[in-house]
Amino acid sequence: MPKYTFSAPCLLGIEGLVGNELRFLGAEEVSPENGRVIFKGDFEMMARANICSRYAERIQILMGEFEALSFEELFQGVKALPWEKFISKTDAFPVKGRSLSSKLHSIPDCQKIIKKAVVERLKEKYMLPWFEETGAVHQIQFLILKDRVSVMIDTSGAGLHKRGYREKANDAPIKETLAAALAEISGVRKNHVVADPMCGSGTILIEAALKAKNIAPGINRYFAAEKWSQIPSYIWKEERKRAKESEREDCTFRGYGYDIDREALKTALENAQKAGVADMIKFEYGDVRKFRCPEERCTVITNPPYGERLLDLKSAEELYKVLGENYKHTPDIRYTVISPDDDFEKCFGRKADKRRKLYNGMIKCQVYMYGVKKK
Ligand SMILES: C[S@@+](CC[C@H](N)C(=O)[O-])C[C@H]1O[C@@H](n2cnc3c(N)ncnc32)[C@H](O)[C@@H]1O
Repeated sequence: MPKYTFSAPCLLGIEGLVGNELRFLGAEEVSPENGRVIFKGDFEMMARANICSRYAERIQILMGEFEALSFEELFQGVKALPWEKFISKTDAFPVKGRSLSSKLHSIPDCQKIIKKAVVERLKEKYMLPWFEETGAVHQIQFLILKDRVSVMIDTSGAGLHKRGYREKANDAPIKETLAAALAEISGVRKNHVVADPMCGSGTILIEAALKAKNIAPGINRYFAAEKWSQIPSYIWKEERKRAKESEREDCTFRGYGYDIDREALKTALENAQKAGVADMIKFEYGDVRKFRCPEERCTVITNPPYGERLLDLKSAEELYKVLGENYKHTPDIRYTVISPDDDFEKCFGRKADKRRKLYNGMIKCQVYMYGVKKK
């Protein structure tokens, strides 16, 4: 099977996790960069990464990278790439992308130039005057960062955080990829007990349970490249079978979720049912002020409300204080809390044993970890 270069964009701050995960899945020449991980592999690897990655946002074929300071350079750079390897005569190939800190900053103009360059390339290769674009969608994506152009073809379709279990959510749900990263950073294993005292729609506990049981996050969803004629359908079938066979039968994970919003708890239960982990998690009404860990050995992972979206800052900071008080009385219990509030440790009442910077979308956050050994 021929090998290709792929790019897996991810939330800033979790590139290392994505790199380790891809290596474990069998990717070659894995190289984490700012906000993405580059790797090599065949179509099997591409399908596996789509089905199994918990932390990547999508999987793209990296067609090429080059410098461009003018539209002519952009046109020639794109036209030189082997688009005919992936796009057949009838396939659709829309273009979208972003430009940051670059001379070529007009997105509509870059889109037009890239489209034109791909069309010109394919016209020459297929000896056709125009393209009907009625076939499978091959979404071309571009990123121009400090005048360096990266052009990709997306293989995922909907972002990989869309696992298929969360149609509904409460007001400020955490992204599934970030929730999975929190479970990994907290060292969740198949026999662990995890509690989220402010669980909202249950994402953290659901992702922790999926990870504990090694259920592939994308096992029940569809990917754009499944429609591509270039990729035999048996590859997807085989990779789904392989993922199913790696689920852990001996998993004893238990999750406990609490919230004061009864609607959110109802949603959390529905989501857990759809994700196939409802038998591993209990959701109950409960105020964090009265929270006690349900079992002696337990890891608390939570993203409390914070000043901007759900509560005013003062009320949010009172909840951090409550968490800190709880930790003081149960120091054997590990805590992982994600918050964008720079005063979090002050409110919690002690410095974290470990801290990690990452982004929840555009919001700069820190993960504060208590009860873990300092390095
Ligand atoms: C940022 S949201 C959590 C989102 C959740 N991780 C998810 O993915 O849906 C914070 C949650 O804290 C809950 N909350 C606020 N005050 C609370 C309290 N005193 N006790 C328990 N839960 C509370 C809110 O109802 C909300 O669901």
